[in-house]
Amino acid sequence: MSPEIEIAKPGLEGVVAGDTAICCVDQGKLLYRGYPISELAEKTAFGEVAYLLIYGELPTAAQLKWIRKQWSEFHGLRSEVLNTLRMIPAGVPMMSVLRTCISMASHFDPVEGQELDSLKRRAVWLLAVASDIVTARYRLLNGKEPIKPQTGVSHAHQMLYSFHGTEPDELSVRLLDMTLVLYAEHDFNASTFTNRVVASTASDMTSATVSAIGALKGPLHGGANEEAINLILRFKSAEEAGAWVNEALANKEKIMGFGHRVYKHGDHRAVILEREMRKLAAVKGRQDLVAIYDAIKDPVVNKEHPIYPNVDYPCGLVYYLMGLPPDLYTPLFACSRIAGWCAHYIEQIQNNRLYRPLSRYIGPPLRSVPPIEKR
Ligand code: COA
Repeated sequence: MSPEIEIAKPGLEGVVAGDTAICCVDQGKLLYRGYPISELAEKTAFGEVAYLLIYGELPTAAQLKWIRKQWSEFHGLRSEVLNTLRMIPAGVPMMSVLRTCISMASHFDPVEGQELDSLKRRAVWLLAVASDIVTARYRLLNGKEPIKPQTGVSHAHQMLYSFHGTEPDELSVRLLDMTLVLYAEHDFNASTFTNRVVASTASDMTSATVSAIGALKGPLHGGANEEAINLILRFKSAEEAGAWVNEALANKEKIMGFGHRVYKHGDHRAVILEREMRKLAAVKGRQDLVAIYDAIKDPVVNKEHPIYPNVDYPCGLVYYLMGLPPDLYTPLFACSRIAGWCAHYIEQIQNNRLYRPLSRYIGPPLRSVPPIEKR
């Protein structure tokens, strides 16, 4: 190996692994196809953002109506997928269930073809089927049958209706929508990179999605929103939480929901969501949880080398305050990020080069195989 390529970059930190026109992640800004995340969170619903990512531009009113109609047509699980859901043991994590059942559903993919238009429609189908799997599994675990999806409503409205079987309140729809917008895309993060690596082998969109779900499941990535709320719920008071976090920092423990590979001065999405979390907690009368949230956060952001909350820290509490159980949080992240993954899949295959990095060998030097009796 030539000396100039012998420099290994653990975690590929600082390495530019490709070009993208989908998302710009910077210390100072986060843009989806040029639009700032703060404006998208405030002014758009998830359906518009999914359309933006997959089709390249924000939809007109007619295009939004069209994508919602597509969703309506794609909603509803086949009996084979429902049977698979029923067979998986109750204790299996929801992300594993999602991974298995998307794979199963893909054997009955209603979208034919591999041309660009089919790939975009397949992305919409994957979004519909993922939310159906998560909501149906939730209902089955609670002893209820999956219900017929509503038509013509927003994706967030549809999901909440499918979880609970009742009309969701406006605040919950708006907040779920906002989290889905914030989670939809984030350039070459671990799961999206996984998706692009699979795409680069010329494999299919569903295989790339299933691989990305596996990457997102990890607690260092999407799994952090569940870890973050479980951390907050461990404590009975702010004092107890503060004492724990100071000790954890002294022991160099990782605090879940904090830190980011790219953002070293704070995550734009966390700032937006924390504001909403405080409003929601006031409505729900749960200032006790906000006090614990702050007691964990303050020592981490005020230490000599501050580490800031990422989107998963406030998101865990937002979902909890909305009455959703923690096992759903990373799957909800996945139900949104599928839009970003599929946009990247399409971008990768349109200008493809197989991902194949090198490694630096640090194993034993050349040796010959001894006979078995001498090993
Ligand atoms: N809690 C406490 N310390 C943290 C931390 C956290 N959540 N995240 C990073 N640090 C510290 C590390 O201990 C390290 O300190 P050191 O230089 O004294 O050894 C330094 O910050 C750099 O951390 P490192 O793990 O090398 O950064 P990274 O870029 O490889 O990691 C994450 C990024 C996201 C994996 C990491 O911040 C993390 O594990 N966070 C918790 C999980 C999480 O919230 N993930 C969701 C990400 S959106």
